[in-house]
Amino acid sequence: MPRPVSVTYRVLPTPEATARAAAQLFTDAAVKAAAARGTARIAISGGTTPKAMFALLASPAEPFLKQVPWDKLELYWVDERCVPPDHAESNYRMTKEALLSKVPLPSERVHRMEGELEPEVAAARYEAVIRNTFRLEGAETPTFDLVQLGMGDDGHTASLFPHTDALNEMSHIVVPNHVPQKDTWRITLTWPVINQGREVAFLIEGGAKTQVLHDVFLGPYQPETYPSQLIRPASGRLTLLLDAAAASKLPAPANSDSTGTLELR
Ligand code: 6PG
Repeated sequence: MPRPVSVTYRVLPTPEATARAAAQLFTDAAVKAAAARGTARIAISGGTTPKAMFALLASPAEPFLKQVPWDKLELYWVDERCVPPDHAESNYRMTKEALLSKVPLPSERVHRMEGELEPEVAAARYEAVIRNTFRLEGAETPTFDLVQLGMGDDGHTASLFPHTDALNEMSHIVVPNHVPQKDTWRITLTWPVINQGREVAFLIEGGAKTQVLHDVFLGPYQPETYPSQLIRPASGRLTLLLDAAAASKLPAPANSDSTGTLELR
């Protein structure tokens, strides 16, 4: 049975406003974690949606660049494409161009997935990186301070695609995942690890995501078809940052701050 979760969704008028809310959430989580534990460990997504958020975090004209404790941040990815770091499809490359090349984050604190290696090797090496940097012992698994997710119009998140093997992975932290529907391999964090995040948030924009967003959060529980339904954090809380186009088939937000709540049982 899926774990009950309280979903708070915030509907922003435009993609720009959604990116800003995501940059604020990133900043708040980093400041809070650094104050509480001396380090902030954040796992980010790739694709296209996070680009605008990264640009805001890196902009000298915005408050975030001064607020984020870059010297206490450890940056990880939730997934990567099996391509070299300078490839147009690389999540690392996108993040480097939009963020890393513009902020004072020491390279030894940037933990990229090595998409250029064999998927099995890249996944095993990334699991070792996480074990070492989190100083995990035995069967311990990592607790990220924030996991920022996206959602594909097929309901996938990270590289947990419909009807793929990684959906059944319960013991590893990172796995290679063959994605027949894209005829490719990906490297991805597993959903039990994502669900252990202190804060887990989806950033979703655009009309192409309207129906799948409705089906994932208001439709029947069928995680093989909609892997985003596997995201039920152990904290019992899940945040959605949405633009109006993506959220148009959800109930209108009841609260004055444009937030609404869904109780998933
Ligand atoms: C990736 C991502 C993936 C992404 C969704 C949404 O590597 O593609 O991590 O999970 O978040 O595909 O992508 P868009 O933001 O491009 O719609």
